Amino acid sequence: MEKKEKYEAFLPQLQALIDGEHDETAVLANASAALASEFGWFWTGFYVVRGDELLVGPFQGTVACYHIGFGRGVCGTAWKQRCTQVVPDVEAFPGHIACSSLSRSEIVVPLFSPQGDIKAVLDIDSTELGTFDDTDREYLEQAAALIARQIY
Ligand code: SME
Repeated sequence: MEKKEKYEAFLPQLQALIDGEHDETAVLANASAALASEFGWFWTGFYVVRGDELLVGPFQGTVACYHIGFGRGVCGTAWKQRCTQVVPDVEAFPGHIACSSLSRSEIVVPLFSPQGDIKAVLDIDSTELGTFDDTDREYLEQAAALIARQIY
């Protein structure tokens, strides 16, 4: 199945999975599990905004750093710039935070509140270079919006 078709099939499943639940931890936990089992990425999860930093939230994958500052790494950059970061080669991204040396490419998508505040970011890492493109950006932004609407 092509990536686009996979996402098209996945989004309604995600909506059904989170329907009726509004707790942030619960929804982010099941969303990360569903994304990881469907797509099999190396690390799939969330960092949540706690005060002036990001704190690791529900995820699937290897152990991760707890705290990320505003503007730091790919996650902090997505928060600061208020937009998705697609990183084909993490070694070429200035300030990338290496939680695992196996991570080679990455995408980070912000989750917005209805007021337009960033409440969390979806962070996905791959062990291959150049895994993520505009198709991933488009559909993962839709997934992030579905999740955010449910909990924020
Ligand atoms: N690489 C991320 C840090 C989080 S880990 O990949 C799970 C970054 O630079 O923000």
